[in-house]
Amino acid sequence: MIKIHELEKSFKDVSVLKGVSITIKDSEIYGIVGQSGAGKSTLLRCINGLESFESGYVEVDGTKVDVKDKVALKNLRRRMGMIFQGFNLLERLDVYDNIALPLKFWGIKTNTEESRKKILDLIELVGLSEKVHAKPRELSGGQKQRVAIARALVLDPEFLLCDEATSALDPEITKGILALLQKINKELGITIIVVTHQMEVVKQICNKVAFLSGGKVLAEGKPEEMFIQPRIPEIKAFLHDRSEILPDYGVNIQLFFTGEGSMEPIVTMMARELDEDFSICWAKIEDFRDELHGSLVINAKEEDEERICSFLDKKNVSWEVLK
Ligand SMILES: Nc1ncnc2c1ncn2[C@@H]1O[C@H](COP(=O)(O)OP(=O)(O)O)[C@@H](O)[C@H]1O
Ligand SMILES: [Mg+2]
Repeated sequence: MIKIHELEKSFKDVSVLKGVSITIKDSEIYGIVGQSGAGKSTLLRCINGLESFESGYVEVDGTKVDVKDKVALKNLRRRMGMIFQGFNLLERLDVYDNIALPLKFWGIKTNTEESRKKILDLIELVGLSEKVHAKPRELSGGQKQRVAIARALVLDPEFLLCDEATSALDPEITKGILALLQKINKELGITIIVVTHQMEVVKQICNKVAFLSGGKVLAEGKPEEMFIQPRIPEIKAFLHDRSEILPDYGVNIQLFFTGEGSMEPIVTMMARELDEDFSICWAKIEDFRDELHGSLVINAKEEDEERICSFLDKKNVSWEVLK
């Protein structure tokens, strides 16, 4: 478990993390999401000791990270694999040797049967068995990230830290990489922390997410709870997906559907039961870790607002009147 408590960090006199507190449990896929400049990468670098901080603490399995203790820091980094947007592979080395690099760095012999098996198993895990001796320039972006993932796993880390790992990849390739991260989380039991500005990443794989803005955590929770019915203006702005062209007459009511239950019967039932007409102005259905969640906005006559809202309450549908 990683516990971050009231972390404060500045560069010169610019405050970048302003009292960040989050807890990442074992085996979670935890997302840190927010606009560019929010402080996400800095927070990630504080977690693995690449960056120092002024106050607060980072605790890994009950032990506080001391950035001045070089030996402890080195051992901590061994427990945390990391991947980046830019892959950071060595061009002159092939896939195999890139993956072997951390072993060399730690003085572990790479020509033993054990090391060879480990590296080849990882190459198979990331789906690159055909490319063992290819150089990075012969690989696509997605394949390069697969090499970087295998390299990050070669020292058997407990945590995998990903900083915008899919931000340079197109949507289809991103899906494949995210599926691979999910497999690693499930099969190897590795806790994964993903820093991203991409909602797709959060929706596809995160069990839990912290929304970071201006160096502060504005919300922490399940992605579907945070993003289907966002209440915080910064999060609404981040999603910027609701058409603002709603009717300026009558009343606009947004309905939220999470998990079980579909929106369609509710809407037709409501029309029948209340014997009222209303129009659907906007709707979306989203997929969070293969579970559907949706939301729609209806426009009705102002005098019907109360009856509609009490109907929705009776049916246990969340709603919000949009002003
Ligand atoms: N090494 C650095 N020196 C000075 N300022 C930095 C440094 N790294 C990041 N910053 C500043 O800290 C803020 C947060 O940056 P960063 O953590 O990279 O945000 P994000 O990853 O969310 O885009 C930005 O304003 C950035 O300019
Ligand atoms: Mg960043």
